[in-house]
Amino acid sequence: MQLAMINDKMLPLDKLDTAYLDRGLYFGDGVYEVVRSYNGKIFALDDHLERFKNSLAGIQIKGIDTEQIRSRIITAFQKAQIPNARIYFHITRGSALRDHNWDDNIKPNFLMTLTDLPDCTPQKLAGIAVSAFPDLRWKKCWIKSLNLLPNILARKDAARKGSDEAILVDENGLITEGASSSFFALFNNTLQTAPLTANILPSITRKFAISSARNLGLSVLEQSLTPAQAVKADELFIAVTTRDIVPAVKFDNIKIANAAPGPVTQKLLVEFANFTQ
Ligand code: PDD
Repeated sequence: MQLAMINDKMLPLDKLDTAYLDRGLYFGDGVYEVVRSYNGKIFALDDHLERFKNSLAGIQIKGIDTEQIRSRIITAFQKAQIPNARIYFHITRGSALRDHNWDDNIKPNFLMTLTDLPDCTPQKLAGIAVSAFPDLRWKKCWIKSLNLLPNILARKDAARKGSDEAILVDENGLITEGASSSFFALFNNTLQTAPLTANILPSITRKFAISSARNLGLSVLEQSLTPAQAVKADELFIAVTTRDIVPAVKFDNIKIANAAPGPVTQKLLVEFANFTQ
């Protein structure tokens, strides 16, 4: 008899819920998105759906109608009635007995959750600490893959050090991005961040942060920098959908400027809010 065991419960394999056979579990074989709403309005859904489409193509999951996903998101969002929601969704390749190869006819699985976004105002006001960690990820970080072991190990290291985010550093000693955010440094009136070619996620918040900077008349330099350069910046911040722009006031325990959110970051936050209202 073919068997399965879930913790201490044994059951015939054919009675096992197919959710346990999801390739997302065995291989991280899927892609995801995190979208948010501001005051009852979903932000940048087109950008997220476009990136999701690219991620699906990147791992050869075919036949997904992103317009159907859009309508699922809108329906669920209307039902949930959460004004500031975190909308997480993923598609895995599907469920099957474990096999590295997959059957082309496998049916993808979709999962979505809508939850309250925690208020990050205190972090925005005080600034956060960040710390460096080696970037151990693969070479296709533009795919928003469910495989996040390097990211979660980096974040745990940061948490152990009392930091809020891990800043990933590649083999050349260059900062790529945060474990789950993009990373920016301000030098005089220039905003510097790694180029999209540096094996990073094409962050949507990054895109709007750059537009905000241009609207404020700042120069934008898409060029990687090292942690040694970053700690000499006037201001640092991270950017991510769930928190938009958050000032970083300590990097590896070194205070950035006077260890308080800087004036340009604060202006950027105001400018960014013009996109989200
Ligand atoms: N993370 N870089 C990485 C590695 C990320 O995982 C994320 C987002 C970002 C920022 O992307 P965006 O601005 O599009 O949110 C950059 C999501 C929120 C997460 O994994 O929860």
